Amino acid sequence: METEKKKIVFSAIQPSGTITLGNYLGAVRNWVNMQDEYNCIYALADLHTITVRQEPAVMRKNILDAYASIMACGIDPEKSLFFIQSHVHTHAELAWILNCYTQFGELSRMTQFKDKSAKHADNINAGLFTYPCLMAADILLYQADMVPVGADQKQHLELSRDIAVRFNGLYDNVFKVPEGFIPKNGARVMSLQDPTRKMSKSDENVNGCVHLLDTPEVIMKKFKRAVTDSEAVVRYGEGKEGINNLMSIYSAVTGKTLEAIEKEFEGKGYGDFKTTVGEAVVEALRPIKTRYEQLIKDKAYLEECYRKADETALRFSQRTLSKAMKKIGFVL
Ligand code: TRP
Repeated sequence: METEKKKIVFSAIQPSGTITLGNYLGAVRNWVNMQDEYNCIYALADLHTITVRQEPAVMRKNILDAYASIMACGIDPEKSLFFIQSHVHTHAELAWILNCYTQFGELSRMTQFKDKSAKHADNINAGLFTYPCLMAADILLYQADMVPVGADQKQHLELSRDIAVRFNGLYDNVFKVPEGFIPKNGARVMSLQDPTRKMSKSDENVNGCVHLLDTPEVIMKKFKRAVTDSEAVVRYGEGKEGINNLMSIYSAVTGKTLEAIEKEFEGKGYGDFKTTVGEAVVEALRPIKTRYEQLIKDKAYLEECYRKADETALRFSQRTLSKAMKKIGFVL
């Protein structure tokens, strides 16, 4: 009974490479924190990943690694549904339908499409263009109330809402219109080498991005090389993107406020500061790494977890898909 009243949260992450510190502090940690209060449904959005060409063996490894890493962060299969998008066929089906209810003009305005087509000019495929319809399908299939997203996905979420409102206007209330939100405590982690850009696994400079599974030595090295500024004062402020980023990371892993951090490092140099931040990150990631290593060895357990979640997700999402199809006029 209790669970019936809980709001439904849906979110997804692409398994395009390893999970980074940015994914963890910006998204997954927040997913973990929402598990008690909400009915949480999370997906590995592997269908989205093939909008950019993947190496088959690498992709296969990335999916399992990402599944194990995210579980290792604390997603509890007893509390939340955590499934693999491509295993649940309703996603591709509803995505096709929503393609037919979304305008070319709307998709053309998506900034991520413009950015990605500039970056992959040799492969501007139709999937890259209709990506937001698949994302809308992910969300709308589960009648989600709330969708935590990063700032870069806000525009896609707005489009999902527009599609839902439009569809509901044509055929009665089929879809719940979801509320997007950018978690307040979700840190936006920037590249350690170019702190004006989001930390990304595709960063050309490997030192810009910390992976959840990096060894303590590698993590320390990356923090020690982090770009700062010439002021030599640990203070949050304009033109200090490098220090601001390190301060937010330190704040996110220790719970200390920015003011407390400024105090702590008064009169100290950047060298000390970077070492302390690196050590705090190593400690925060240590239990996750240990848990990951146990999980990735136990493929049977991992499979049991996702098969069970896939099945529940299919049952749940099929109800919405059938309802939408019936309204449109399909003979079911
Ligand atoms: N597009 C999202 C990203 O790249 C991942 C995603 C896919 C997603 N489907 C979603 C996020 C549904 C929220 C809801 O980050």
